[in-house]
Amino acid sequence: MEPTAWMEQAEQSMLHTYNRYQIVLDHGEGVYLYDTEGKKYLDFAAGIAVQALGYGHKEYNEALKGQVDKLLHTSNLYYNQPTIEAAGKLCKASGMDRVFFTNSGTEAIEGAIKAAKKYAYAKDGCAGHEIIAMEHSFHGRSLGALSVTGNAHYREPFEPLPGIVKFAEYNDLASVEGLVNEKTCAVILETVQGEGGIYPAEPEFLAGVKKLCEEKGILLILDEIQCGMGRSGHMFAWQGYGVKPDILACAKALGCGVPVGAFLMTEQVAEGSLKPGDHGTTYGGNPFVGAAVSKVLDIFEKEGIPKHVQEISVYLEETLEQLKMEYPFILARRGLGLMQGLELAPEIPAGEISAKALGEGLILITAGNNVLRFVPPLVIGKEHVDEMAAILRKVFHLTGKDMLP
Ligand SMILES: Cc1ncc(COP(=O)(O)O)c(C=O)c1O
Repeated sequence: MEPTAWMEQAEQSMLHTYNRYQIVLDHGEGVYLYDTEGKKYLDFAAGIAVQALGYGHKEYNEALKGQVDKLLHTSNLYYNQPTIEAAGKLCKASGMDRVFFTNSGTEAIEGAIKAAKKYAYAKDGCAGHEIIAMEHSFHGRSLGALSVTGNAHYREPFEPLPGIVKFAEYNDLASVEGLVNEKTCAVILETVQGEGGIYPAEPEFLAGVKKLCEEKGILLILDEIQCGMGRSGHMFAWQGYGVKPDILACAKALGCGVPVGAFLMTEQVAEGSLKPGDHGTTYGGNPFVGAAVSKVLDIFEKEGIPKHVQEISVYLEETLEQLKMEYPFILARRGLGLMQGLELAPEIPAGEISAKALGEGLILITAGNNVLRFVPPLVIGKEHVDEMAAILRKVFHLTGKDMLP
């Protein structure tokens, strides 16, 4: 069937919540994707920061196939070995003490919010605690996750959203301090804001929020759903800052393609928050995803993925800085590790650039206010960075010429 026929069929039966790029993807190999026509694409999006190991990683695929033949699902009423192993490895890698596996990032945020509220409730016996979240944040699409997402466009149609949430300016400690009161139970923020436009937390800001939380008995929730799992150059971005959260949310690259998220916490929060009956999931942490997470963590350790990210991200940053020097419509480069953004002038719409890049065989996505987002598989090499830059130069040349003032 022709790709256009597939796309028409999709639009007849699937809910139109996405304006999809006009390709039908078929398979992947390494850091490349192929469409149904056999056209090859260099992937600098990784399925929105999911495919950390790229495509077709043999050892990972074998582990999944083995688990399919053995046991897919049991429910959380029973123990299963792969998930017990995954939990131990994830706690070790993240520096946290206890984990709850979910099916998505959004659900990890839901759990994190519930844990923080229950902790505060158990402490003072009162409900109605408040949360401080950040402007321009993104934490997911369920009602609880939307309630802490600082983007009016996503929120407004669904208001009122649950709970009392106040929004502070990211990287502005005084604005967080100004919102704290005796009902505040948690501050939630992305260690690196993703959807909002690729803004890493400033070290003094993160350290200041942590100190404030400690002084006031407030929990710090870090959302590392996008920036975690090696992308920052550390297994979790907080480890690079040296600012440990009380609760950590994780997903995306955790399963490298198998849908899984997790929220983790310190022993102190675990002791004082969710107890049997307070939270649950049918699928979360089933043996299949347990096998995936366990193998992902083994491969990260064996292949030294965070160290590779530290090295290769220097080259990516240099390359992006070089592009910025060459093209005056690139206003800024921001990012941490293999989570980078180029902010473009308003006359050069990032969406148009990413669509044109696709035509030239490069998969790129956008973020925030006119930002090109670079979140490639963590296994890219210098040759892939060079290839990306060459395609982007071609696209800028084609597009920039018409569009420059
Ligand atoms: C920082 C952050 N939090 C939460 C989410 C929601 O995760 P999911 O789409 O898996 O529900 C995302 C997704 O992009 C994200 O980037």
